[in-house]
Amino acid sequence: MKITVAIDGPAAAGKSTVAKEVAKRLGYTYIDTGAMYRAFTWYCMEKGVDCQNEAACCALIPEVTIKLRPNGQVLCNEFDVTKEIREPRVSGNVSYIASYKDIRLFLVDQQRAMAAKHSVIMDGRDIGTYVLPDADVKIFQIASVETRAVRRYDENIAKGISCTLEEIENDVRKRDYIDSHRDFAPLKCAPDALTLDTSFMSVEEVVTKVIEIINAKLAEKGING
Ligand code: DC
Repeated sequence: MKITVAIDGPAAAGKSTVAKEVAKRLGYTYIDTGAMYRAFTWYCMEKGVDCQNEAACCALIPEVTIKLRPNGQVLCNEFDVTKEIREPRVSGNVSYIASYKDIRLFLVDQQRAMAAKHSVIMDGRDIGTYVLPDADVKIFQIASVETRAVRRYDENIAKGISCTLEEIENDVRKRDYIDSHRDFAPLKCAPDALTLDTSFMSVEEVVTKVIEIINAKLAEKGING
């Protein structure tokens, strides 16, 4: 039986850490849709295109190929951009790219195609509301801005990406605003999603809780995962 799990929520709420681990434990494929928007952003910047120029960014669609490897590697036109897409310069521009309808449609097609093939746990902003509105399980994962900024800061430092906590907190606030105010498929909790506030939870606690939610939902629907 093919299962689809959607995890949405604001920037740096820990969605990818949790989704990755849950996917590993349940044998699902993890799909990081944010990485796809980031890879597209990286490409625009490589090409010297202004990320606030919608027409110029959308014009690049035919020349962009993005691949997510099972080992977590992100390829853009066969370049390994796994590390580059986490840099603050990309984080600072990705919300503009993600607000362009044509780029969203281009990437959403690929996201849906991946979910049609495998049992997936997909994280993003619009998975439960737009990409997979019929997902078997929908979770809206949140945490306070302060908690999220500290988590993202620690993550960047561990990866050797230099930044300040203030820079990260400003970026998180800015992205929350742009992501939830765009016209097309904004960040929003699906009416049938379960909200999970992780501000005071450890990663292991969240992973355990998410697996509990998935099992309960599948049992309720009579699905044998
Ligand atoms: O999850 P993330 O921080 O890697 O996401 C990067 C950006 O991409 C984020 O600011 C919003 C956007 N995004 C989106 O609009 N829709 C998605 N499904 C995933 C990410």
